[in-house]
Amino acid sequence: MIKRLWSRKEEKSSISEHTLKSDNIPVHIAIIMDGNGRWAKKKGLPRIAGHRSGMKTVKRITMAASDLGVKYLTMYAFSTENWKRPKEEVDFLMKLPQQFLEMEIDELMENNVQVRMMGDIKNLPAHTRAAVEVAMRKTANNTGLVLNFALNYGGRLELIEAVKRVASLVEKKEIKIDDINEEFFSSYMQSQQIPDPDLLIRTSGEVRLSNFMLWQLAYSEFYFTDVYWPEFSEEHFTAAIQEYQRRARRFGGV
Ligand code: IPE
Ligand code: IPE
Ligand code: MG
Repeated sequence: MIKRLWSRKEEKSSISEHTLKSDNIPVHIAIIMDGNGRWAKKKGLPRIAGHRSGMKTVKRITMAASDLGVKYLTMYAFSTENWKRPKEEVDFLMKLPQQFLEMEIDELMENNVQVRMMGDIKNLPAHTRAAVEVAMRKTANNTGLVLNFALNYGGRLELIEAVKRVASLVEKKEIKIDDINEEFFSSYMQSQQIPDPDLLIRTSGEVRLSNFMLWQLAYSEFYFTDVYWPEFSEEHFTAAIQEYQRRARRFGGV
């Protein structure tokens, strides 16, 4: 079934040609994947069944993004606040990256996808960190879609870490305070080699950022949908991009 999605080239390109303007595909799409728990509840299943199903959506949307020519896809998989959840749920979530990457690594390679991650990596369980690092190493030379997982990620923590590193340069007199400008500061954020998201998608009807990419989302287009993440399809994804293509981005201009 998974293979079918990856190889359905003609059908997919016809979706993109007929409904999307190929010259205005967002370069970077960031997604707050939300609603796994409520989807499971609706089905009378335990919350972890929602996360397992959500993992399939990650695959589906990664393929769709790759086929549409999106260059960067950032997926919010675990926030610095998600540790507040019951231990069994946290443990399950920490096993998902490994499961996902082990299952999908061959097809990620076939499709030239490069895996990256951002977040407070040093405080992840060793097995979670190792799984992503292996995938990052294997895919390091791939030149297609960059699949960037935000794992144990918090926007405020990212800002604090950047401030500390920049402040230490000032303290050591390696830079002057006036050397700090937006471009310089951005290079100390974890997303340094990735342009700011053009489009942010959040599923499940929640209309908030939940500490996601506070610096980078300054001028992104926001798209909120009531659909729960496990039910988020290629068609929903295309609809989000269509909506993006209808927006006039002014960046403060006219
Ligand atoms: C998103 O789904 C996955 C993570 C935050 C890890 P949730 O688990 O937040 O699902 P809801 O919001 O409780 O429905
Ligand atoms: C945001 O979702 C974090 C991720 C999707 C990983 P949450 O479900 O944790 O957000 P809140 O708690 O509803 O704000
Ligand atoms: Mg949630």
